[in-house]
Amino acid sequence: MTTPHDQLPVFRSRLFDGQVALITGGGTGIGFGIAQLLAELGATVIIASRNQTHLEPAIEQLRAAGGKADSLILDVRDSDGVKAAIRSVADRLGRIDVLVNNAAGNFYVPSESMSANAWRSVIEIDLSGTFFCSQAVMPIMRDHGGGRIVNISMTLHYRGWPLMAHATAAKAGIDAVTRTLALEWARHGIRVNAVAPGPVPTEGVKKAFSAPPDAVPDVFSVERAMEDYARRSIPLARMGSPRDIANMVAFLASPAGDWITGSIMVVDGGEWLQKGPH
Ligand code: COA
Repeated sequence: MTTPHDQLPVFRSRLFDGQVALITGGGTGIGFGIAQLLAELGATVIIASRNQTHLEPAIEQLRAAGGKADSLILDVRDSDGVKAAIRSVADRLGRIDVLVNNAAGNFYVPSESMSANAWRSVIEIDLSGTFFCSQAVMPIMRDHGGGRIVNISMTLHYRGWPLMAHATAAKAGIDAVTRTLALEWARHGIRVNAVAPGPVPTEGVKKAFSAPPDAVPDVFSVERAMEDYARRSIPLARMGSPRDIANMVAFLASPAGDWITGSIMVVDGGEWLQKGPH
């Protein structure tokens, strides 16, 4: 029997020993997958979220697996709050080596009826949040001789994506900020890169594949719809997993990425290249 790709050890153990990694939105989905891998590789992992109820079970799970993990309550939209919270981590642990800007929010909504508040909400969480957290961690990394920032982007803005004007605009902004900060902060030894994931079946993606509420109940319908989509639309013929994304984050944050900055790495099984126009 072959080992599922998620369980293959790819990196040497203790790769991030002695290092501190802060992951926004790290309590669930892709962010939690990143936290799991960095903790397995020896980092002290701080997962940050607005919501303590997301964080507690995640911290328990990371610690039960032998990881060093702690939580941080943080609203990435509040620049002063972000500065204070990130400073408190550095004061307590002495350093922050890796920041993963993963916190994001989105929902499908027609542009003509999107409220100003809905637009602002996603732009502020995804784009402003990425900028504020990067800005807050910069002096800590600079004073420590450097660091690595990895932003979580997406591929939907490469062609446009109906009903997602807010999120595609925010992620395009994240790509721009990634390249600009990479140029500004390289002289401080801070590398800034992004990972653009294809479809990973977290709760939000599963919802997009759900049958309408009036359909005949079928517990396997979501899985079948996703398998079908993967066969048709993803050259590598499967949906992604949080570990697929985490592997790229770990690579970029490790010495293997030492000469990589300002890059946006697409991890999507070839999905966006294959897709035709709408
Ligand atoms: N469709 C249309 N508008 C929506 C919406 C939806 N599904 N969800 C939220 N909005 C609108 C709200 O109506 C509100 O606008 P209004 O004040 O004009 O009515 C605005 O967006 C802000 O909503 P609110 O829930 O107060 O925002 P928040 O800042 O507390 O949270 C999200 C924003 C995006 C995190 C939240 O909407 C959410 O939980 N989304 C789904 C989960 C998610 O995105 N997870 C991350 C996956 S990447």
